[in-house]
Amino acid sequence: MSDRKKEINRRRTFGIISHPDAGKTTLTEKLLLYGGAIQEAGAVKSNKIKKGATSDFMEIERQRGISVATSVMGFEYKNKKINILDTPGHQDFAEDTYRTLTAVDSVIVVIDVAKGVEAQTEKLVEVCRMRDTPIIVFINKLDREGKDAYDLLDEVEEKLGLNVCPLSWPIGMGQDFKGVYNMWEKNLQLYTEQKKQKIADSVSIEDISTPEIEKYIDKEAADTLRDEIELISGVYPDFDKQTYLDGQLSPVFFGSALNNFGVQELLNCFVDIAPAPLPKKAEDRVVDPMEDKFTGFVFKIHANMDPKHRDRLAFLKIVSGTFERNTNYQHVRQGKNLKFSNPTAFMASKKSVVDLAYPGDIVGLHDSGNFRIGDTLTEGEKLEFKGIPSFSPEHFRFINNADPLKAKQLNKGVDQLMDEGVAQLFTLESNGRKVIGTVGALQYEVIQYRLEHEYNAKCTYENYPAHKACWIESSDDKQLEEFSKLKYRYLAKDKFGRLVFLSDSAFSLNMAREKFDKIKFHLKSEF
Ligand code: G4P
Repeated sequence: MSDRKKEINRRRTFGIISHPDAGKTTLTEKLLLYGGAIQEAGAVKSNKIKKGATSDFMEIERQRGISVATSVMGFEYKNKKINILDTPGHQDFAEDTYRTLTAVDSVIVVIDVAKGVEAQTEKLVEVCRMRDTPIIVFINKLDREGKDAYDLLDEVEEKLGLNVCPLSWPIGMGQDFKGVYNMWEKNLQLYTEQKKQKIADSVSIEDISTPEIEKYIDKEAADTLRDEIELISGVYPDFDKQTYLDGQLSPVFFGSALNNFGVQELLNCFVDIAPAPLPKKAEDRVVDPMEDKFTGFVFKIHANMDPKHRDRLAFLKIVSGTFERNTNYQHVRQGKNLKFSNPTAFMASKKSVVDLAYPGDIVGLHDSGNFRIGDTLTEGEKLEFKGIPSFSPEHFRFINNADPLKAKQLNKGVDQLMDEGVAQLFTLESNGRKVIGTVGALQYEVIQYRLEHEYNAKCTYENYPAHKACWIESSDDKQLEEFSKLKYRYLAKDKFGRLVFLSDSAFSLNMAREKFDKIKFHLKSEF
């Protein structure tokens, strides 16, 4: 096998997703500790938006600072090059997370044992399932009282629509938590108070019926464990790697990230089973990572924190070939060649200039405004990757210029913020007015604040009473014309010039669907 292929095969690029507070930051940190990428706990900062003490936009700036540092965290473990892609947990930034999920090859879902499956987890897993992304589930906080393990697995199956197969099983919970039996490595991990915060002891137990177990846990607990393992092996399917890789079976682990319990087992299994970089669908073909020629796409853009320098960092996921420093690549949308003298690689929270990067890797490209989310770089092929759809926003507001002398600055600022994917811009067909759509209300503050501080422009908002944005597809020109006439006031173009219907209520959307049966109304921009 060529060195390049070996390098590609040893890459594991994944994201950790969870509802805020389930323990994503804590788990990330423990994984980095195992990888030797950080030396102490507390090194990874939570990128949560904390409400309260400071005003929201200050909090957002703080969070932006953190999220530059933690966007990609690379480390080596067991001869694998692992890249963790950070995903914001706050629901107002869900769109950011959806896009990041286009750049991962698998995910780990963290679930709080007491809270079970929460709203944000449901949404994020749904996005993963759309692409059949392989998923491993980690049930966290076993040191606390929580839901019964069977009930939790039922909940995961029902609410997340996943087929599960437990690869570890808890012995007790909360006060009585004694450890887990790991079916993957066939060993018993013991959890003892004194060992809290330390890497736990594990004893190899090939056969769970052995009386040896009773040296470590009392007979009652051992019997319960034996019964439960027997029961789950009857109820749940055996683990099958291919089914997992196809996104159809999710192994489940139990542990406590804070106490570093069950984390190494999770990581060991992850490096054994998680996929190396996967082929990626483009408009006209599927691109294989092993192809010689370089291709990659931008999934995230980060504005510089220093308002005096408006340069940005575009995050490029390499899909095929190799990416080399100071080499000309084609920016497909703009049809021009670009080369990069200082591409950045991410190892833990350190950044360094990289000369060569492989599929699976993420490089940061300094950009003065060339890139937009979804842009493709190639060696010349006109290629567009699929799978970076925009989703219908939840909030809509008109944006008005509050300083007539700064119209140019405002337009430029709005344009660039939209390129970064902060929100979506719709231009009404009837009068050219601009409507900004966002996933959460917080984004309006972000936009206003950043326009003022980075672009010296001021804006105000006015409510726009839309319910959903639907991208329109029609197989019948006549019907589309009729619809356009009738709904003229509600039609807009998105940033890419695609026609969008801004329906004002669920009722009017349903009416439109019924009346115009040749028109499809999509709640996302890619269909
Ligand atoms: P997030 O990134 O998913 O939002 O969650 P994060 O890791 O920040 O964890 C949320 C809270 O849950 C933190 O407590 C963290 O210490 C705690 N936690 C994480 N894993 C475990 C676990 O295994 N057991 C227990 N008992 N708690 C856990 P916090 O008080 O909100 O924050 P902090 O002050 O400890 O940072």
